Amino acid sequence: MDIFDAINNRTSYRGKYKDIPVPKADLIKILEAGTAAPSGCNKQTTSFIAVDDKRLLAEVKALIDPPIAVTAPAFILVLTQKIYAYRDKCFNIQDYSAAIENMLLAIKGLGYESCWYEGHITDDDDIAGKIAHHMGIPDEYRIVCILPVGIPEEEPKKTSKQPFESRIWFNGFGGNK
Ligand SMILES: Cc1cc2nc3c(=O)[nH]c(=O)nc-3n(C[C@H](O)[C@H](O)[C@H](O)COP(=O)(O)O)c2cc1C
Repeated sequence: MDIFDAINNRTSYRGKYKDIPVPKADLIKILEAGTAAPSGCNKQTTSFIAVDDKRLLAEVKALIDPPIAVTAPAFILVLTQKIYAYRDKCFNIQDYSAAIENMLLAIKGLGYESCWYEGHITDDDDIAGKIAHHMGIPDEYRIVCILPVGIPEEEPKKTSKQPFESRIWFNGFGGNK
């Protein structure tokens, strides 16, 4: 898929997934897209756990209430570490955001759908912490996002965006020259 088709057709998919596994080779391509992302001072603060084992996937899903992507055949858990780039500067949020977007585009490019689930699992009820505890993830890593991966059963719907002119300007605020 052309890069601009992937960018422009990516959308947050929250529908059902087909009961078809994602081949390991595709998961690896998606994960490698995550590791290829830029990171502040190249600190590479983001790590990834792909979950496609049916039993573990069911255990992880059971910890998520209200549930998300219950039919997805694979999840990618995005982990971050607070590693300082210099002085008090830590770019881990920017790092994992870049990695997530790279993976979302790779997912789209390979014909799958996904959704960036972060707010849902990092809210006060700390679902991410429960998953990390269940999986024995070391304390210095924090799960910040889940990306389901799978073939959609429903037609993905594009999310509307504000008009070009309201957010994009040339040569000055509000400009068009
Ligand atoms: C930081 C961040 C956190 C998000 N958390 C969630 C979430 O917890 N649940 C969810 O359904 N969507 C979540 N989303 C997806 C947004 O709702 C979605 O990107 C936005 O509505 C725009 O739609 P689009 O992705 O289809 O362009 C999150 C997106 C970002 C960037």
